[in-house]
Amino acid sequence: MAQLVVALDFQTQAEAVAMAAKVQGVAPWMKVGLELFVAEGPGIVRELKALGFKVFVDLKFLDIPNTVRGAVRSCVKSGADMLNIHACGGVDMARVAVAARDEAAAEMALAAKPLLFAVTVLTSMMDPSLPVLNGREPAAVVLELAKASRAAGLDGVVCSGQEAARIKAECGPDFLCLTPGIRIPDPSATTSAQGDDQRRVMTPEAAVAAGSDYLVVGRPITRAVDPAQSARDILRRMAQA
Ligand code: C5P
Repeated sequence: MAQLVVALDFQTQAEAVAMAAKVQGVAPWMKVGLELFVAEGPGIVRELKALGFKVFVDLKFLDIPNTVRGAVRSCVKSGADMLNIHACGGVDMARVAVAARDEAAAEMALAAKPLLFAVTVLTSMMDPSLPVLNGREPAAVVLELAKASRAAGLDGVVCSGQEAARIKAECGPDFLCLTPGIRIPDPSATTSAQGDDQRRVMTPEAAVAAGSDYLVVGRPITRAVDPAQSARDILRRMAQA
């Protein structure tokens, strides 16, 4: 059964915790990304864990292997249940990240290792002329990065729902897909434009049907009039898949 992760993209611990409280009992996973982590540091991870949430620390590490090793260790020690690196950092960086996760989890005697994902091509990217795509379609680049990430020992990749089925077919059903860019079509909209920065988007039901294991949802929940109701609606759509 796919799981819902709520992206707490806020600048203060107070705002993040207030939003988490609104969806407590509905969504078990919270995501702490760059905006919140840079403002508040690892204390926010501990605070959310103390409230009973599982926490995805989404800092997308990309650096020389030695620096990523240290960052992964610090991230695991902060209490993260899930963390990530950039797949485009290469196989050496990815292998070092896996080893660092394993070492830190062993030192902390964790019953379960935190899940380690690799970001493939950001869901805001679509245009093949972007340097990272170098004239290729996103799906081809995502699949290549997913295969390399699997070979390096990652638990899964961050990808759009549009790529999940192919990744599952080629990397195996146990290789996890974590999918942002989840959007609910607005029946009152007169155009198909999403009106925000996400480009490779999918509905919750389509992403789960394609094989996504975790759906990361920010604004459709955090900017809703009733975030808990929006989260419940997304869970209902996920269950339909
Ligand atoms: O508000 P929205 O639903 O677009 O939030 C998506 C979240 O997922 C954001 O926190 C964003 O940083 C994160 N994310 C993403 N695309 C990736 C990886 C992470 O949108 N490839």
